[in-house]
Amino acid sequence: MEKLVSLAKRRGFIFQSSEIYGGINGFWDYGPVGVELRNNIKSFWWQRMVRLRDDVVGVDTSIICHPQTWVASGHVASFSDPMVDCKTCKGRFRADHIEAIQCPQKPSLTVQACAGDKRGPGELTEVRQFNLMFETFVGALRDDSARAYLRPETCQSIFTQFKNVQIVSRQKIPFGIAQIGKSFRNEITPRNFIFRSREFEQMEMEFFVKPEEAEMQKWYEYWVAERFQWFKDLGIKPDKLRQRIHSQDELAHYAKGCVDVEYEFPFGWSELEGIANRSNYDLSQHIKTSGKDLSYFDETTKEKYVPAVVETSLGVDRTLLTVLADAYAEDVVEGEERVVMRFSPAVAPYKVAVFPLSRKLAEPAMALEKSLRKRYVTDYDDVGSIGKRYRRHDEIGTPLAVTYDFQSEEDKQVTVRDRDTTKQERIAIDRLEDYLKDHLKL
Ligand code: GAP
Repeated sequence: MEKLVSLAKRRGFIFQSSEIYGGINGFWDYGPVGVELRNNIKSFWWQRMVRLRDDVVGVDTSIICHPQTWVASGHVASFSDPMVDCKTCKGRFRADHIEAIQCPQKPSLTVQACAGDKRGPGELTEVRQFNLMFETFVGALRDDSARAYLRPETCQSIFTQFKNVQIVSRQKIPFGIAQIGKSFRNEITPRNFIFRSREFEQMEMEFFVKPEEAEMQKWYEYWVAERFQWFKDLGIKPDKLRQRIHSQDELAHYAKGCVDVEYEFPFGWSELEGIANRSNYDLSQHIKTSGKDLSYFDETTKEKYVPAVVETSLGVDRTLLTVLADAYAEDVVEGEERVVMRFSPAVAPYKVAVFPLSRKLAEPAMALEKSLRKRYVTDYDDVGSIGKRYRRHDEIGTPLAVTYDFQSEEDKQVTVRDRDTTKQERIAIDRLEDYLKDHLKL
């Protein structure tokens, strides 16, 4: 993890938020390379979940919505984690994570070890519940009537807008509504870099189905398989992915089943995505709380019912950490150690880098790079030796590097170097686009 965090900063993937003021725990900024990677991950999801399907449509809803939303969903009453304070060091920790969190005063010990035996001076308070929603006030008043929340998940407004979206999209059940957007949770102990943060982005899809047992089961199994396959298609190593079925006592009271897709991070197997059979709890709660009819009328069978839901929910940032961890490799090239990010071309921040061998060749090399820009995200790099430029682009995972040299002026060819094999080939400039198409397969 340390290597990953340092590379992420050095190469402009991720910076600590507000670094010059000492940082703010649980918040992160994405740099020029990170934002490309992030956008590629989101596009890869949106393409597969919305654009390539007939039965899923998208929305983009507000982060702050009517506070009754969170009363109906149960978040106001019970979206909380157990918390303990250490009376000695005044640290505040998630009670169910103390066996894994380092003691801030004695980093060689976990909080549990520090508090639990003679090795440390720690003394913990009783466990109490802490609501994770960030509160704010809407308008000029600062009283209860103006209290609102930053959404802790993106799905609730998919439920509250269900009827509007169904009518305008003319979708018939079964169909889904998808959304990518920011969520906020005042996590007691944000940790593991961007794995658990206080501001993050989610990619959620609610698939509405007839609430009959067999129908639900069929779609639940379909979405578990589909979502698992998506990670493999994203280029994640299959042996680092697994499915974990939630036990009965882990399930929310309304849920009929939940499977987590887990990844083997450097800190162990952890949740990436949850696929849940949420029954028709959410829509029913919003019907009850708002008094509005959100039921569905089937024109063919003339049946009216409140649809049930299969939800697929994952974090953009957690997926990005997975992509980073999975792509990271160290090897030796021509006797020199290198770090290489083996991103699949679909998510690689840059697809092609173009280098002039000498700055004297800047003009034709730049013209070549500009012509490739129309189709690919490219980078022009003329700083340092060619070897240094290769290393730089290996570290940000650019699949192909094109060098324009003095001979190119004569033979109208360039050298294309493959990031993974480091093999170099001489390719005619007028064949370059076809070559890139064949190799990047985008
Ligand atoms: N609507 C269901 C829901 O929000 P969740 O398991 O609480 O379920 C879904 O969150 C996904 O959102 C997680 O699997 C994870 O990828 C991401 N996520 C949740 N909390 C997060 C946090 N504090 N930081 C980063 N990602 C988070």
